[in-house]
Amino acid sequence: MGYDGALKAFDASAAKLPRIDLFLIHWPMPSEDRYVDTWKALVRLREDGRVGSIGVSNFSPDHLDRIVDATGVVPALNQIELHPHFQQRAARAAHERLGIVTQSWSPLGQGTLLTDPAIVAIAEAAGATPAQVILAWHVQAGLGVIPKASSRARIEENLAAEKVTLTAEQIAKIDAMDREDGRLGPNPDTL
Ligand SMILES: NC(=O)c1ccc[n+]([C@@H]2O[C@H](COP(=O)([O-])OP(=O)(O)OC[C@H]3O[C@@H](n4cnc5c(N)ncnc54)[C@H](OP(=O)(O)O)[C@@H]3O)[C@@H](O)[C@H]2O)c1
Repeated sequence: MGYDGALKAFDASAAKLPRIDLFLIHWPMPSEDRYVDTWKALVRLREDGRVGSIGVSNFSPDHLDRIVDATGVVPALNQIELHPHFQQRAARAAHERLGIVTQSWSPLGQGTLLTDPAIVAIAEAAGATPAQVILAWHVQAGLGVIPKASSRARIEENLAAEKVTLTAEQIAKIDAMDREDGRLGPNPDTL
């Protein structure tokens, strides 16, 4: 966090990687109120050609408006918690207004959704696995998706979700799984 801190953190990452395509601010940390200066550092890194794209993670629509007003630079992407139990409709509408890609973290609900009876029934009907059904739902909604899996077999299974196409009815069933209390991770607004 902070202008100099972010430049230093970038140098530490750049020393370990041949190239950085996308660099994100992980949390807004509104209690520290330094995310605008941090964003200015990322804008400088992009202007200097040291990174391809810059974005954020866990930013609310208010945080996004503030950094865009301060710099005129819109993040390429906002990575937020998003899965069938926590669908983030207001955030997605704000991203669409600003032209920001939404990327879903914990897209499988940290694995908790894989045994949900509605998901299992759709998987059986679609000839796919529960993980593939959930990932196909993200992809068909235009969301970027970053599932975590430990084995090669699961990573391959998850990549093959690209070939699964859900019907409008199946998508509507998953859309209806959104819950008020569906958040699994911390609330970024109050950290
Ligand atoms: N920006 C942020 O603040 C933020 C916060 C949290 C997470 N993230 C990122 O989001 C990514 C994913 O989130 P996550 O790990 O919390 O949750 P997730 O991807 O929703 O779920 C991961 C769980 O699902 C299991 N799984 C994955 N594919 C499977 C399959 N095909 N069949 C059965 N089980 C499967 C994994 O098991 P195994 O591992 O045992 O295979 C693991 O237990 C992570 O890479 C993380 O870096 C970002």
